[in-house]
Amino acid sequence: MDKIASIREDFIQDIKSVNNLRELEAIRLKYIGSKGIVSQLLKEISRVPIEERKKFGATVNELKNFIENTISEKKEILFEKETDERLRKEAIDITLPGRRLPLGSIHPITRTMEEITDIFLRLGYGIEYGPDIELDKYNFELLNIPPLHPARDMQATFYISDELVLRTHTSPVQIRTMLKKAPPIKIISPGTVYRCDSDATHSPMFHQVEGLLVDRDVSFEDLRGTIDLFLKSFFGQNTKTRFRASYFPFTEPSAEVDIECQMCMGKGCNICKNSGFLEVMGCGMVNPYVLKNVNIDPEEFTGFAFGMGVERMAMLKYKIPDLRLFFDNDLRFLGQF
Ligand code: DAH
Repeated sequence: MDKIASIREDFIQDIKSVNNLRELEAIRLKYIGSKGIVSQLLKEISRVPIEERKKFGATVNELKNFIENTISEKKEILFEKETDERLRKEAIDITLPGRRLPLGSIHPITRTMEEITDIFLRLGYGIEYGPDIELDKYNFELLNIPPLHPARDMQATFYISDELVLRTHTSPVQIRTMLKKAPPIKIISPGTVYRCDSDATHSPMFHQVEGLLVDRDVSFEDLRGTIDLFLKSFFGQNTKTRFRASYFPFTEPSAEVDIECQMCMGKGCNICKNSGFLEVMGCGMVNPYVLKNVNIDPEEFTGFAFGMGVERMAMLKYKIPDLRLFFDNDLRFLGQF
């Protein structure tokens, strides 16, 4: 009986110093595990005198119950304490600001193309698109550039077959549009074009925006007014523009348009070769032969057309020194737009 009492005292001391579930489990095994102190004690019952066995058994059982109950109470307390601690440790502070995702930006060519088209949309122009792989007939022949015409040399062409080319300009969209609908026609056509050319100022793939207006009584003055208004909207209201006589097979008369050099503002620098002006586009009155090719009567209708290089417009507006920057995909460059 003394031994039972002292085991009880030992247990009470032991359990006081328990700090976590692992230690508690060790105590459980020590006292009431299958090889524990209490289990050993029960085995000793044979050595107890018969008349005291009942009392001995009952006392040991009572001790065993006491230990079991104490352990399970302690277990609950420890479990709660450990869960609390774990939750506190694993808690996520949702009040912290999240990490920002890097923001993308519009490619300067796309952006310039949108700026150009926006101006013409405001002037009531529609948008037409044509395929990059184009019929020779539309890219050249119906634009009054027959086979062997010297103008074909100006545009180093990627041929796919005798009849198919990668379009060298957006002008074939003029043909497609005039074949599709009757005047009045008032469209622009932005798109990708290709020429077999590659150096600091030429890329084998670049972009143009074409324009076409066909109606009754369209004059060269309408063309001049439209182009001047467009260039002033695009480069700024004080931009000086200049028309120079030129030649394109699909327009007659033809002109090239210059703007005041944006680098030196007309003073003369090495970019404009001291002329103070830079060429930005070609234009002219639609050649009567072209109108006839698409079954429009040149006695009844006249029109003007123009075409510009998007890379060139972007370089001048944003003062970009090298064409290749557009296609290197250097994020330090692209991120500035
Ligand atoms: N297609 C010409 C080129 O790529 C640009 C051009 C000039 C387009 C005069 C026109 C135009 O519509 O009238 O060089």
